[in-house]
Amino acid sequence: MDDRSAPKGLRKGLTHYGDTAFSEYLRMSFTQSMGYSKRLLKRPVVGIASSRSDFNNCHRHFPELIEAVKRGVLAAGGLPMEFPSISLGEPFLYPTSMMFRNLMSMDVEEMIRAQPMDAVVLVGGCDKTVPAQLMGALSANLPAIQVVGGPMMTGRHHGERLGACTDCRRHWGRYRGGEIDQAEIEAIEGNLATTAGSCAVMGTASTMACLAEALGMMLPGSAAIPAVHADRLRAAEASGARAVALAHEGLTPDRIVTQDAVDNALRVLLAISGSTNAVIHLTAIAGRLGLDVDGARLNRLSAETPVLVDLKPTGANYMEDLNAAGGVQAVMYELRDLLHQDASTVTGETIGQWMQAQAPRWVDHGVVRRRGEPLLPHGGLLALKGSLAPNGALIKRAAADESLFEHTGRAVVFESLEDMAARIDSPDLDVEADDILVLKHAGPKAAAMPEAGYIPIPAKLARQGVRDMVRLSDARMSGTAYGTVVLHISPEAEAGGPLALVRNGDRIALSVSRQAIDLLVDDAELDRRRALWQPPAQKETRGYGWLYQEHVTQAEYGCDFDFLRAGGIGARR
Ligand code: FES
Ligand code: MG
Repeated sequence: MDDRSAPKGLRKGLTHYGDTAFSEYLRMSFTQSMGYSKRLLKRPVVGIASSRSDFNNCHRHFPELIEAVKRGVLAAGGLPMEFPSISLGEPFLYPTSMMFRNLMSMDVEEMIRAQPMDAVVLVGGCDKTVPAQLMGALSANLPAIQVVGGPMMTGRHHGERLGACTDCRRHWGRYRGGEIDQAEIEAIEGNLATTAGSCAVMGTASTMACLAEALGMMLPGSAAIPAVHADRLRAAEASGARAVALAHEGLTPDRIVTQDAVDNALRVLLAISGSTNAVIHLTAIAGRLGLDVDGARLNRLSAETPVLVDLKPTGANYMEDLNAAGGVQAVMYELRDLLHQDASTVTGETIGQWMQAQAPRWVDHGVVRRRGEPLLPHGGLLALKGSLAPNGALIKRAAADESLFEHTGRAVVFESLEDMAARIDSPDLDVEADDILVLKHAGPKAAAMPEAGYIPIPAKLARQGVRDMVRLSDARMSGTAYGTVVLHISPEAEAGGPLALVRNGDRIALSVSRQAIDLLVDDAELDRRRALWQPPAQKETRGYGWLYQEHVTQAEYGCDFDFLRAGGIGARR
């Protein structure tokens, strides 16, 4: 332990009052007003970044979880100091939770930096909270450890297990198609999300929890423990204790989140067939340290990383099953020859050392497949490029209909979210099952990239039994959704990408084998259309909305703000 990394506790970063001794005397006096004994005030301080909020159902058990973290900190000789940050409860935020991920990351980063702490425990769970906390903590670069709330347990309906939110979508599709009535959809609504915790499937929250573990920023074995399981509290206690050791060791996140660790996380993302959103979040996290996640890299890893985890939305099981089957460690153990084993973790050990000491004793191979018996021989996600997406796009092939992998069709274009909402179910909509549905102006600058890329099947086709079509947009899609959906098209329409030029009746070709998405319109015609194209007027003129529109980057940079990426405003946008 050198002097730079030695815990300074409450003496760290004194408020500027001009007189240092006075500043310290004042801080100590005010801290004592909270009733701490002087003995405790000499301990290393572990900040606990809490994202609890009444507007976040997934985090409703955080008081108990944070008590366990505090217990761990105290028992290990530290002083726990909980502090709040913005919370991002997925269903509660308008226009999208994505708009506020960067804001939360700034809140977390600046409060870690501003307040006197020697290490920080990040306590998050719902989709955007874990990426926001990791982005902030990486930029602050103080010793940090991630704790998540853990997944919900499943509910029951007529003997069938239900988990938010893949089953929400399946039953909603049945309701739209007239298969089930109002009373039944209401009964289902009451049984989809029945406990504290994040969504019960491999949606974005679960994916990000798994990636935090694969990155080495979370205690091994803790990503998948259900929110209501006693092990969740034990993991929180152990994380608190480990944070005290991190404060003494001065082990900062930049020594854990290296390019090797990012590649490990990408491997795990592919093997768990995780959320498409995780590509954006991991890109933003890595970008805080100047590391890359580009489409070519993703596809290289995707070609040789099999899908091993059988969870909804692509498979059959739920997060509670993954936990019982051996969790992320079982997945990483199966992938061990593909992983960078010398990547460090918050435990102070490398992944390889940890595996050697604690190879999983039992794994349910019905849920976590053996390497030789994968669900798919290659990864669940694939980056696309082509004349419609010169800077990239993404498809979750594991959740798509294979018969649509090589498909050329006629474009049915919706100019905006409002246009789509107004016309998608109209009996007059000119649409056939083999058309391609195109949604424009739902990208990061246009609309803070809502999860609208899962364009509903037009009602008249849904009633005919059509359940999937090729759909494409500059939007995102929920990690719990499925279908042949091309997302994150970049540049987005709002930024003048070729997507802006697509018109009804154009031919579009999707080719999964060629990793391509092309607009089959000749260059002369596209030039003519481009000459007529008018850049949209700036919608926001003040406040955070303005800041967001002005500084949000495209999907290939993780939709982080340009000034938050490593290198700041001068770095690539
Ligand atoms: Fe919080 Fe799904 S709503 S994880
Ligand atoms: Mg989600």
